[in-house]
This record gives sequence, C-alpha cells and structure tokens, in this order.
Amino acid sequence: MIKRPVLSKTLVILSVSAFLTVIAVNYLPASDEQEMPDVIVFDQEICGKNLRGPVEFTHLSHAEDYELSCSRCHHDYIDGENIWEEGNWVNKCIECHDPCDSDDNVKKLKVAMHRNCIECHRKLKKEWGSTDAPYKACKDCHER
Ligand code: HEC
Ligand code: HEC
Ligand code: HEC
Ligand code: HEC
Repeated sequence: MIKRPVLSKTLVILSVSAFLTVIAVNYLPASDEQEMPDVIVFDQEICGKNLRGPVEFTHLSHAEDYELSCSRCHHDYIDGENIWEEGNWVNKCIECHDPCDSDDNVKKLKVAMHRNCIECHRKLKKEWGSTDAPYKACKDCHER
C-alpha cells in the first residue's frame, strides 16, 4: 500500500521553524499528520440510519489510476469559489455537510455524497461509455 502523507500548512511551517532553530524534533506528531487513504469503507450512520450498508470506495485508485485531481472531490468554498488545493488539510465531508439538513447549496451528507459519486460516474457513461463506474443500481455501490 502506498502511503502519501498530506501535511497541513501549519505543520510544514512548524517543522521548518523547528529545523531552523535546531530543536531536535525528527518526527512529526501523529495528530498533525494526514495519510492518503487507500480504500475507504463508508459504513456510517447518517442521521440515525444505516439502511443500505457499507460502500467501498477505492480512494487511491480514483486519485492515481483514474487521474482525478484532489479538488474534484475536496473543496472549501469562499464566495462560491473552491479555494482548496492539494497539500491543504482535508476535512471530512460531514464537517460541513450536516447529516440531517440541507442548507441552501450545502446539501445534507447523503445528497452531497450521492451527487459527488453519481454525477461524475453518469458523465463518464455519457462521455465515453464507461460501464465500470456505477451510477444507477444501488447495489453496485451498497452492500444491501
Ligand atoms: C473521487 C473523489 C476523491 C478524489 C479524487 C480524492 N479524494 Fe480524498 N477523499 C474522498 C472522500 C469521499 C473521502 C472521505 C471523506 C470523509 O470521510 O468524509 C476522502 C478522504 C481523504 C483524506 C482523509 C481525510 C480524513 O480525515 O479522514 C485525505 C487525507 C484525502 N482524502 C486526501 C486526498 C488527496 C491528497 C487527493 C489527491 C491526490 C484526494 N484525496 C483525491 C474523495 C476523493
Ligand atoms: C469546508 C466545508 C466543506 C467540506 C469539508 C466539504 N464540503 Fe461539499 N460543499 C461545501 C459548500 C459550502 C458547498 C456549496 C458550494 C456552493 O455552491 O457555493 C458544497 C458543495 C458540494 C457539492 C455540490 C457542488 C460541488 O462542488 O460539487 C457536492 C457534491 C459536495 N459539496 C460534496 C462534498 C463531499 C463528497 C465532501 C467530502 C469529500 C465535501 N463536500 C466536503 C462545503 C464543504
Ligand atoms: C470526478 C469523478 C469521480 C468521482 C467524484 C467518483 N468516481 Fe468512482 N470512478 C471514477 C472513474 C474514472 C472510475 C473508473 C471507470 C472506468 O474505468 O470505466 C470510477 C470507478 C468506480 C468504481 C468501480 C471501480 C473501482 O475502483 O471500484 C466504484 C465502485 C466507484 N467508482 C465508486 C465511487 C464512489 C463510492 C464515489 C464517491 C465517494 C466515487 N466513485 C466518486 C470517477 C469518479
Ligand atoms: C456511486 C455509488 C452509490 C450509488 C450508485 C448509490 N449510493 Fe447511496 N451512498 C453512497 C455513499 C458513498 C454514501 C455515504 C455512506 C456513508 O457515509 O456511510 C451513500 C449513502 C446512502 C444512504 C444513507 C446511509 C444509509 O445507508 O442509510 C442511503 C439511504 C442511500 N445511500 C441510498 C441509496 C439508494 C436507495 C441508491 C439507489 C437508488 C443508492 N444509494 C445508490 C454511494 C452510492
């Protein structure tokens, strides 16, 4: 498994200043480090429900084999513009998309997830006839 650490800006600044002042810190605190997940299995209760069961998501393949830039999925909007860029801290979707309620453009978690996964896959089907990216049948993503 390839692990690619994603460092937050503050961490980089902290570790650079630590280096410059020759404080002997040669490891990074785990709590400030983010690893690039390989396969993510979503199996969370969303707004008190877990009706359809686990969804397996090949995170690393999506980023590397399918060559999708991180900001196709990760974002942080200011005035409607995505200002997130690779290297920035990645927040979980649930930190902004409430599990139960949509708020204007910030759709509730299930809708945001579905929109992200399904809209891209539907486009692939349209654009080059991909049959491998599920966009319709629930059971192609969900276990039940
Ligand atoms: C096709 C969509 C997609 C692409 C492309 C993608 N990611 Fe992700 N990534 C996700 C999803 C979905 C999650 C799970 C978020 C959650 O648990 O709420 C995630 C989780 C992560 C996490 C873990 C966050 C945490 O706290 O659990 C990191 C770090 C991350 N991605 C970094 C990256 C980087 C760096 C790239 C580009 C090299 C990238 N991702 C490309 C969809 C994507
Ligand atoms: C830092 C807060 C934040 C995080 C974290 C976040 N979102 Fe969003 N998301 C937003 C906001 C704000 C909008 C509305 C943007 C607009 O239309 O102005 C949005 C819009 C969206 C949209 C519709 C438009 C678009 O950009 O595609 C989708 C789909 C979406 N989010 C999915 C996700 C997924 C999946 C994750 C986790 C991988 C995630 N979001 C993480 C804040 C966030
Ligand atoms: C920006 C585009 C994009 C987004 C967003 C995206 N995918 Fe995909 N997905 C792809 C591509 C490209 C393929 C490969 C299709 C092919 O080879 O025909 C794929 C393939 C898949 C496959 C089948 C092959 C495999 O690697 O398992 C599954 C399952 C899948 N995606 C699940 C998801 C889930 C779940 C999400 C949301 C968390 C998601 N995808 C979000 C582009 C995307
Ligand atoms: C491209 C993959 C994909 C497809 C196709 C898909 N979903 Fe999902 N769905 C997801 C992901 C990812 C989540 C987030 C799961 C999580 O965070 O635990 C989700 C969450 C859900 C949830 C909320 C969590 C739960 O299990 O109660 C429901 C309900 C749901 N989906 C129903 C459906 C139904 C019904 C269909 C078919 C009409 C469908 N989904 C098709 C990927 C998909």
